[in-house]
Amino acid sequence: MTTMSDSRPTSDRFVSWFREAAPYIHAFRGRTFVIYVSGELIMEGGFPLLAQDIALLRSLGIHLVLVHGGRPQIDAALEARNHQSLLVEGERITDDTTLSCVIEANGKIRVEIESTLSIGLPNSPMSGAAIRVASGNFVTARPLGVLRGVDFLHTGRVRKIDAAGIRTLLETGSIVLLSAIGYSLTGETFNMKSQDVAAETAQAIGADKLIYITDIAGLGVRQFSWQEANRFLNEQPELSQGCKDALGPAIESCRRGRVRRAHLIDYRLDGGLLQELFSRDGVGILINQDTYEDVRPARLEDIGGLLELIQPLETQGVLLGRSREALELDIQHYSVIERDGMVVACSALYPHEGHMTEMGCLAVHPDYQKRGYGDRMLQYSEEHAKKRGAKQLYVLTTQATHWFLERGFSLGTISDIPETRRLKTNPDRGSKVFLKILAVEEEN
Ligand SMILES: CC(C)(COP(=O)(O)OP(=O)(O)OC[C@H]1O[C@@H](n2cnc3c(N)ncnc32)[C@H](O)[C@@H]1OP(=O)(O)O)[C@@H](O)C(=O)NCCC(=O)NCCS
Repeated sequence: MTTMSDSRPTSDRFVSWFREAAPYIHAFRGRTFVIYVSGELIMEGGFPLLAQDIALLRSLGIHLVLVHGGRPQIDAALEARNHQSLLVEGERITDDTTLSCVIEANGKIRVEIESTLSIGLPNSPMSGAAIRVASGNFVTARPLGVLRGVDFLHTGRVRKIDAAGIRTLLETGSIVLLSAIGYSLTGETFNMKSQDVAAETAQAIGADKLIYITDIAGLGVRQFSWQEANRFLNEQPELSQGCKDALGPAIESCRRGRVRRAHLIDYRLDGGLLQELFSRDGVGILINQDTYEDVRPARLEDIGGLLELIQPLETQGVLLGRSREALELDIQHYSVIERDGMVVACSALYPHEGHMTEMGCLAVHPDYQKRGYGDRMLQYSEEHAKKRGAKQLYVLTTQATHWFLERGFSLGTISDIPETRRLKTNPDRGSKVFLKILAVEEEN
């Protein structure tokens, strides 16, 4: 028998999941994602399930470009013809027979993708969703040419992407489907790396996200700046080829600043795409343009997020309570770090007479503590206070005394802080004063 208490955890999970997903649903509408789908996923029969998630994204108003791989399908076509193509430093030499295998394999994959997206996804939550798929000659190729004496024949590189053509189709609501085949201005056909086609396309159309659904088994859940991801790539020689082929272009796209975020998701994970996109911590690898989400001055729209961050700490007696009205009046003093629309850290600066500035309301969301956000807020506050002429920073704290001591603050007394502020303190709280010299005082 199901009792109310049995059903509560499920409904609580549902409600909290839905609340967590809601800001993303709102934020992603009208955005453009380029999604790479590995040949392995298609070969192992995973596309029909992924197609449902793709249809769901499309129905949420997200513009989508799909780029498919095809390595195992090409290998199978080569084997069927009993032909071996040579690989030099991981790069395939595409001779005439290999090229016809590439064309054959890509043709079959395209038919499979188009037909799956055309059947209205019966027996699925997206039943009846009409999806228009468009492909075309959007990728201009150039020959890779002769490298260290080796002629790579029909192996090519991306020369240009027809960004305007792709955007026009996206605006009509179509999903654009691309493969690794490109054509040169002289009419020749080239075989390129599909992961590169995805990255070049994302950069050319200014996509909001570049997503690789590929083989990243064993890498776990990680978040990197592009610099950290680059170090990781260079220090891990045992990474799978699929992972290296996706990490390289993902890092490059973020390094060039043309794509804000790149994601790598393991292709074996059912629902991985949705979990990565609609949960705060994701299930794969996220590469950011910057090391940190940046500290920025708070705006009135942040007040809801600030209250969510501060109120639990107020209830625990760690921070002083602030009402919505008080925050509205004081918002110019606050700075925040925002992550995917959520305020994860905040602090406030109040300049006083005598070159003293108070730093108050320093808080980091419990899910994001011990990741350096507190240090980042402090560093920002010190720089900001110095720029505005402060020579000393002080805080009043009840619970974080050691945190401040370890960061160069020293214990003071209530008589060290400006009188105007002293008069407003509540002695019952028993707050301790900590001070930090920001600049050497000028000698008289
Ligand atoms: C204090 C606070 C802002 C630190 O934020 P954070 O992002 O976790 O800090 P960082 O990642 O930069 O530093 C983490 C280190 O500080 C330590 N630390 C965290 N809170 C601490 C505290 N109250 N006292 C002493 N050390 C503390 C952690 O153990 C960690 O050290 P470790 O890596 O050696 O284990 C955060 O814990 C917080 O929001 N606390 C509640 C609000 C508060 O007390 N604010 C200060 C009063 S204004």
